[in-house]
Amino acid sequence: MDKNIRNAILQKYAKVSTNKCIHNIYIFLYAFFAISCFLWITEKRGFFMKVVAFNGSPRKEGNTYLSIGIVVEELQKEGIETEIVQLGGADIRGCRACFKCFENKDRRCIQKDELNSFVGKMIEADGIIIGSPTYFANVSTEVKALIDRAGLVSRANDFLFRRKVGAAVVAVRRAGGTDVYSSINYFFGIGHMIIPGSSYWNLGFGRTPGEVLKDEEGIATFRDLGRNMAWLMKKLYC
Ligand SMILES: Cc1cc2nc3c(=O)[nH]c(=O)nc-3n(C[C@H](O)[C@H](O)[C@H](O)COP(=O)(O)O)c2cc1C
Repeated sequence: MDKNIRNAILQKYAKVSTNKCIHNIYIFLYAFFAISCFLWITEKRGFFMKVVAFNGSPRKEGNTYLSIGIVVEELQKEGIETEIVQLGGADIRGCRACFKCFENKDRRCIQKDELNSFVGKMIEADGIIIGSPTYFANVSTEVKALIDRAGLVSRANDFLFRRKVGAAVVAVRRAGGTDVYSSINYFFGIGHMIIPGSSYWNLGFGRTPGEVLKDEEGIATFRDLGRNMAWLMKKLYC
């Protein structure tokens, strides 16, 4: 081949490969910028995180529900997805201490009722709120059933709620609310879960449905709890 023709072809190819190289650098920079923006937005907004909140009162729109609503509002402001599940009034029984969950290790309780669907929601979520009214200075029956059975199924399966964030929300008329707060936090604490604080223990005072909305300090406590829960979840998961 003529030397001049050969040089011309080589020069042409060199130019094409330089253009290709610059093109690839642009693609790389564009992808880097897009991924950085995506990560920044997801961190800022808390995308993809979910909190499931159980209303342990049989009063569907009572003080427990309204208190949970205040926490959930703060979580939503931070871009965290939320779901409120009606637990009070559900047809669930207590733990039978059969320990089949330890034999089967299938993330389920052998009793055939709604409990397993609640456990499923807890497994899927990054954060769990358990709300309960104060009944004779303790949690409602349904909350106790959830704690005992979900707690045992979790332990039987190498701690299903490990490092999820857990928060208690308590409605109380006068006294016994701190016992409810403790009972729920005992459940979180024994299961490798992480508990955010607030500006007071998470209690709202009121007797008839809606009365809790007059408890200004209670409302502020629930707002602070929601903000702290969102902050903690972002630190842990983003
Ligand atoms: C069976 C029962 C037991 C209760 N025991 C207590 C109690 O020990 N201490 C208290 O301050 N309030 C007690 N209360 C009042 C409720 O805790 C209070 O009305 C609360 O706001 C109910 O929440 P809810 O509207 O979500 O159902 C009891 C209510 C019921 C129905």
